Amino acid sequence: MQTKYFIVEKEHLDQQIMQQAAALLKQGKLVAFPTETVYGLGANGLDEQAVAKIYQAKGRPSDNPLILHIANQRELIPLVKKIPANAQVLMDKYWPGPLTLVLKRTNMVPDIVSGGLDTVAVRLPASSIARELITLAGMPIAAPSANTSGRPSPTSAQAVLADLDGRIDAIIDGGVCDIGVESTVVDCTTPVPTLLRPGGITLEMLMDTLGEIEIDPALDGGTQCIPRSPGMKYTHYAPVAPMILFEGTYPFIADSILREITTALAAGQTVGAIVSEETAQRLPTTVVSAVYGQRQHTVDIAANLYTAIRSFDNKPVDIIYAEGIPEEGLGLAVMNRLRKASGYRIIKE
Ligand code: TXA
Ligand code: MG
Repeated sequence: MQTKYFIVEKEHLDQQIMQQAAALLKQGKLVAFPTETVYGLGANGLDEQAVAKIYQAKGRPSDNPLILHIANQRELIPLVKKIPANAQVLMDKYWPGPLTLVLKRTNMVPDIVSGGLDTVAVRLPASSIARELITLAGMPIAAPSANTSGRPSPTSAQAVLADLDGRIDAIIDGGVCDIGVESTVVDCTTPVPTLLRPGGITLEMLMDTLGEIEIDPALDGGTQCIPRSPGMKYTHYAPVAPMILFEGTYPFIADSILREITTALAAGQTVGAIVSEETAQRLPTTVVSAVYGQRQHTVDIAANLYTAIRSFDNKPVDIIYAEGIPEEGLGLAVMNRLRKASGYRIIKE
């Protein structure tokens, strides 16, 4: 299959191109598109056959449900049984934006979207391209991140094509995504809303708004627990080479990364490192490094994270060492993704 390539500027949406992309969705085809978090792989969310193509293109396990993307709050009404007060508060505050809500679904939502659960995840993205596409298509768009299952999410059209070129009908290149990590997923079917996946809306923001929130016990490494968000049980965001994550405070964390790197180099290994600017300055020149930004600039680190992980795809390193950051603000989402990417191989200093 030849993947059609559209370019759209987010400040100036080319209506003719947007119409062409929307027409493909109406025909049951797969269109990758940018959102403010990461690129999504979209299909008509009410068409089972179209949604089945998403699972096929990504190689995604069929019990891992998808997010439905809408362009307007009122489009939520036919999809869910009720909107709890908590959910309404969150929607009013953070939509459009990087927040996904899990609610009890109606029969309008196909089983294949919800992976057989009685709930559905819904999000109203802030991206102008995403919202225009949904509006023109005239239907909720089912869209997981537009990567091969298990790989880091794509934050540019190039990263989407690296995984899915020839496997999808079209892509809209709208430039690099602003936030760089996926939306926050909150289950609003529990008496107190439950954080299932940290993301673009931070835990601090949710706490401020709700006063209380539960954190899913399966969130980080709680592998003994049964994950309520099926996506959490799979290996995710992983680079090609094995990765080891370091957790701890600066500068001790840099010291221990350097010690480990020195040992690996002495053993003749080719070493990669995902590190802050501060640590990068201390690395031997033979280390293949991807720098994600300054330690205190969590917003930059989130934006650069997946590009840093993907930068090793075409570089023959034996092992990658990654520097952890404090779990504040977007740092919680960054650490959640780094832990998964490392397969929970973690060294705590
Ligand atoms: O930022 C994002 O959310 C991006 C962009 C494209 O919108 N999408 C995204 O989709 O990250 P995906 O499929 O890669 O991740 C969706 C997550 C998975 O962890 C999945 O298990 C969870 O949401 N999820 C979906 N439906 C659910 C449900 N009914 N109950 C619990 N978790 C659900
Ligand atoms: Mg994903």
